[in-house]
Amino acid sequence: MISQNTIQQILSRIDIVDIVGFFVKLKKRGTNYLGLCPFHNEKTPSFTVSPAKEIYKCFGCGRSGNSISFLMEHEKYSYAESLRWLAAKYNVEIEETETSPEFKQQQQVADSLYIINNFAQKYFSDALFNSEEGTTVALSYLKERGFREDIIKKFQLGYNPETRDGFTKAALASQYNLDYLQKSGLVNVRDGNAYDNYRGRIIFPIHNQSGKVLGFGARIIKNNDKAPKYINTPENEIYIKSKLLYGAYFARLAIDKADECLLVEGYTDVVSLHQAGIENVVASGGTSLTPDQLRLVKKYTNNLTIIYDGDSAGIKAALRGLDLALEESLNVKLVLIPDNEDPDSYLQKVGAADFTAFIAANKKDFILFQLNIALKDAGNDSTKKSIVVNQVAETISKINKTEDFTKQQDYIKQCSEILKIEESGLHALVNKFIREKVNKAENRASREVTADDGSADISSGVEDDISALFNRDEMHERAMVRSLLEFGLKDWDEEQKVAVYVFKEMEDNQLEELIDNKELKKVLQTYKIWYDEGIEPTAKNFLYNDDLQMSSLVVSIMDFNYEVSPKWKEHYEGHIPTRDELFKEEVFSTLNYLKLRKIKRLMDENQRDLEKATIAEDQLILVQTHQHLKQMEIELTRQLGTVIFR
Ligand code: CTP
Ligand code: MN
Repeated sequence: MISQNTIQQILSRIDIVDIVGFFVKLKKRGTNYLGLCPFHNEKTPSFTVSPAKEIYKCFGCGRSGNSISFLMEHEKYSYAESLRWLAAKYNVEIEETETSPEFKQQQQVADSLYIINNFAQKYFSDALFNSEEGTTVALSYLKERGFREDIIKKFQLGYNPETRDGFTKAALASQYNLDYLQKSGLVNVRDGNAYDNYRGRIIFPIHNQSGKVLGFGARIIKNNDKAPKYINTPENEIYIKSKLLYGAYFARLAIDKADECLLVEGYTDVVSLHQAGIENVVASGGTSLTPDQLRLVKKYTNNLTIIYDGDSAGIKAALRGLDLALEESLNVKLVLIPDNEDPDSYLQKVGAADFTAFIAANKKDFILFQLNIALKDAGNDSTKKSIVVNQVAETISKINKTEDFTKQQDYIKQCSEILKIEESGLHALVNKFIREKVNKAENRASREVTADDGSADISSGVEDDISALFNRDEMHERAMVRSLLEFGLKDWDEEQKVAVYVFKEMEDNQLEELIDNKELKKVLQTYKIWYDEGIEPTAKNFLYNDDLQMSSLVVSIMDFNYEVSPKWKEHYEGHIPTRDELFKEEVFSTLNYLKLRKIKRLMDENQRDLEKATIAEDQLILVQTHQHLKQMEIELTRQLGTVIFR
């Protein structure tokens, strides 16, 4: 873990304009900087960076954040990776601290699993090459399928004999812990008896990026309808299926060199292609690609070629989730292997040279491929056809990075040709989907985007809509937290800081329980704890807190220095007061709004009691209470009315 001291040093040097400016061209505009948003496709800049607040915000797509969240989102770094990037940029030496007990514990389980897997891999390899059963049953099977010994050794293939508990006994005799053996998936326990999980199966070890064994795929040798063809390692501390690709360890350099990654379905396909000298290949195991797997590919190349057998059920699975590849700006191509063959069998049939030539000649663009399939399915049915048009427009709309703009235009052209429709029509449809997506993102972000009344009249119409979606109660809660964050450390009067005044008011009037939004409440509580402990509860400390949820909430309630609207200027002669100058009024108002809400709720409650009350005496008291509350309400409203509050 990076020490707090290091983090503070990094944070003290952060310059958001410098960091965002590294990736986005920014122009100074007033106190802020403006550029084309790197997160969505736009022609007029709406991406704003505020150096004073150390935040960025896009008024087009609604994304906002700080320097660290920018790196996380734009560069796909983790929190720690972002810190390391910044440390390198600003020449801060990283100091590591002791890790937490939970992390240590997890680390220890992971280490144990790696050690057990290493032991097992050796055991299975030994059984394959040096046991009677291994050589006669398993090695001969592999050789019959055309696998050479050198490639079997390279991929560390093995065999788990038929005996009930051969491996289990060996592992226990070597002092391996039974719990961990079960966790690794190598050993099962039934009725108190431990036995081997992969009996009579060929073993494919699955390696991580540095060649350590994460787990295994175990293929049955004899055809058996009752038993599954493959048994795979269960998810555990180190085997996380969604994050790995079989063969990645052996393919890395070749992918880099070819600037292309081939993706096949099966373990045997990977081994077979390797043997033929085609080494830039990985397997997904027949499931649809996950975002993590796509990112793994993208670390090495932007070009992904999927090679599947023509009528594999896996194609649909593989194509699913590929819209995501477009968002990640991966170029995806597809090759279908003919004649009921899979890559392994086709390669063995035609030989390496023809195989490579076939792949090169039959790469299809995946969007165009999908379109052709869907069109064929639709036939002459016009309803189905219009569904296809919609689908392809939606897919194309996912290409949305600025640098991919021409690619998007190309697709629109090609697809409209295939569909035999007007290019401009498809163009409009694609734009509709982009807009819809942006709107959805905004709706989602609307709970996070600045909620102040002020922003609405100054910025675009979109912001108006967002504000309208807001529930006014929450708006006041946000305003209250924001005024605390911005003005909390200023002097309220000679005796106390704003924060002290606010917390006292809240306590005296039991206002905290009125805050409905749990996240906002958490910020308030954290603020109080920090204040009491002598940690400066500045917005900056919240912004760079490793509680990312809290950090992004704080980003979203921070105010940009908007240009003052011309209408405002008409009403004022000369100097226009800023929020900073009016901070007391603002703090006062936000508290009053909360008090007003409290009174409204008390009045509602009182009203309900009144409806139920049957005894005259009770009714009288309730009516008096009502009048009293009404009086307070009038007074608070009057006070609010005299305060200049934007
Ligand atoms: N798979 C699996 N469980 C199964 C079947 C398949 O996990 N019951 C995964 C394996 O990763 C397998 C891949 O899906 O490698 C592709 O399946 P398949 O084409 O049936 O297997 P192959 O690896 O091609 O094996 P073989 O060539 O020996 O038939
Ligand atoms: Mn196969």
